[in-house]
Amino acid sequence: MNLRTLRLILLLFVVFSFFLFSAAHSQGPRNVEQRVNALLSQMTLEEKLGQLQQLDGEANGNFRPEHLELVRKGLLGSTLNVRGAQRTNQLQRVATTESRLKIPLLFGFDVIHGYRTIFPIPLAEAGSWDPGLAERSAAVAAQEASNAGLRWTFAPMVDIARDPRWGRITEGAGEDPFLGAAFARARVRGFQGDDYSAADKVLACAKHWVAYGNAEGGRDYNTTDLSENTLREIYFPPFKAAVDAGVATLMSSFNAINGVPASANAFTLTKVLRQEWKFDGFVVSDYTSVRELINHGTAANEEEAAAAALNAGVDMEMVSRSYNQFGPQLLKQNKLSTATIDEAVRRILRIKFRLGLFERPYTDETREPASLLRPESIRLAREIAGRSMVLLKNDRETLPLNKNTGSVAVIGPLADDRRAPLGWWAGDGKEENTVTPLAGIKAKVPAQTKVGYAKGCDVTGDSTAGFQEAVNLAKASDIAIVFVGEIADMVGEAASRSTLDLPGRQMELLQAIHATGKPVVVVLVNGRPLSVGWIVNNVPAILESWMAGSQSGNAIADILFGDVNPGGKLPVTFPRSVGQVPIYYNHMNTGRPPEAQNRYTSKYYDVPWTPLFPFGHGLSYTTFKISNLQLSSPSISANGKLTASVEVENTGRRAGDEVVQLYIRDLVASMTRPVKELKGFQRMSLQPGEKRRVEFVLGAEQLGFWNREMRYVVEPGQFQLMVGANSVDVLEAKFNVN
Ligand code: NOJ
Repeated sequence: MNLRTLRLILLLFVVFSFFLFSAAHSQGPRNVEQRVNALLSQMTLEEKLGQLQQLDGEANGNFRPEHLELVRKGLLGSTLNVRGAQRTNQLQRVATTESRLKIPLLFGFDVIHGYRTIFPIPLAEAGSWDPGLAERSAAVAAQEASNAGLRWTFAPMVDIARDPRWGRITEGAGEDPFLGAAFARARVRGFQGDDYSAADKVLACAKHWVAYGNAEGGRDYNTTDLSENTLREIYFPPFKAAVDAGVATLMSSFNAINGVPASANAFTLTKVLRQEWKFDGFVVSDYTSVRELINHGTAANEEEAAAAALNAGVDMEMVSRSYNQFGPQLLKQNKLSTATIDEAVRRILRIKFRLGLFERPYTDETREPASLLRPESIRLAREIAGRSMVLLKNDRETLPLNKNTGSVAVIGPLADDRRAPLGWWAGDGKEENTVTPLAGIKAKVPAQTKVGYAKGCDVTGDSTAGFQEAVNLAKASDIAIVFVGEIADMVGEAASRSTLDLPGRQMELLQAIHATGKPVVVVLVNGRPLSVGWIVNNVPAILESWMAGSQSGNAIADILFGDVNPGGKLPVTFPRSVGQVPIYYNHMNTGRPPEAQNRYTSKYYDVPWTPLFPFGHGLSYTTFKISNLQLSSPSISANGKLTASVEVENTGRRAGDEVVQLYIRDLVASMTRPVKELKGFQRMSLQPGEKRRVEFVLGAEQLGFWNREMRYVVEPGQFQLMVGANSVDVLEAKFNVN
């Protein structure tokens, strides 16, 4: 054989292998579209509408008897809450063997911060200012959930929340769009990976599209009224980040936006999402939010509701059944077009194909038990919990405590509570897997350290019967650690509060313990900012532990006794009182910014205008010095780049973490601009005495805004740049955009 023949054979071999390879990996974009179209062309109208329907299983994870029949007839595309490898397989088998077109079902569930291994609530994770951690916890959640037959999570919730009365603040990354976008991206990556067709990945769902967190009065499901600028600058960015990260689905929210319900809002669902952002996944409505268009008063009946939602761009209907019921007649009346229905079906099938659901509809039932609560998942939950907690106050180095303290009093209704640390939407998390603070502390200290426990009172309720026992215990101990806050039921959906005070008699309990004169440490267990001014004024050390998941007690003990040095920072402002709400760091200036000596400025008569704790606040057991702010240039062009850098030094005696935060302010613009906007952050670990320079790069993406004509512009002029360890204590410099 001569060289030419050899080359030819080699070439043919390469080409042939390429075809073989592509055939085997048939998920290429062209291929998916071909498969979608081929399937669509065989579907009856009823089968198409069936793909648009999602129904709820039972709370315990079972499917309902009627599901079997609907699936058999091809009238159901997806379920929520049905879970467990065996049960999902059983229902799936009906879809893939007994229905005419054998289209597999998509099983969804709210896997918000863990499936069985429960991680800190998302608000807490945002307090780590380390999106990499959220990616890792989402990956564990995906791995556990997928082994339990689920292929879709209704997470991440990426709603910006500026109102802590709103219970769902617990589920998001807090008040800031830049931090929120970073966490949105990370969680999508964690759930979906590079390729969500992998067996241990699930589809993510960015929710709730959109402005749900802006509910008036902080009252859940309430209406919202906000400018397009605010939508684009505050509420959209985390969704945009999720879409850019490849999120497969979005959920349309319950609220109305400027008079148009989000689940029938063509501006947000079609103009922004599809036309501007080129999103090609599908949108599922929130629970019955299609039918609720009637209550909103924008649809007279379910028929109109179906037409409004589907025409606006809601592809799949969760729980209400108006698409299925009224689709055929709407089509006849030309209130709905075949093209619109086909497009919604196409989007759903596209994701099902990309997910590999047709190739691998079942879950390996043997793997489920061993996939839950793996030792490495539990270790990660503990690590993330520790890194999410925020040391709010620590006078005279009260913390960390000495493990050899003679006796420790562990007091309070949340000291030994297994439910609260799991927070709202605890997946399939079990109380029996929670390590409470009491258990964590007992496991931490040596046998000779006496650990006493007294509950004192409940979180809610009026009884003070347990106070005396708690006071006696404190008196007989060297130190009292008091655990107060909220129960899980007080946060999350339908859990808005009208006060941010500690509920029940907890404050009185704490005051009684404080009155003993014993040193007191307070650990807050809560899912939203609380107004705890008395504690801040009277207690030397406060740890914000949030609702930190299955490993919460171990992580708290790690911090209290100094094995972990806290480094979290608040992802949300803590108000002094509920009357200050909404209070957030990136507010607009006014014509009369607050001045202490001038009555006629923008402030309160009866409370300072400043928060209890500012956004970005958090202490450490060591100290840091941030200094020597340098800019690469005093001015840049509108599309140029600026590098800002500072030196960070650990000036204390322990290794620890600092989160350096960069803020900007556009000093003079064609529109009022926020007094500060976070545009960079970096969490770093430094050894005692270690010094490092941190760099941030700013460009048009950070410096611009949406102007009056709704164009994104970088306007020339002077900017202020601020870098610090929180949003208040900052070094400042100025630069110009030419
Ligand atoms: C209603 C909630 O608003 C949403 O976040 C959740 O995903 C659905 N219920 C399904 O449980």
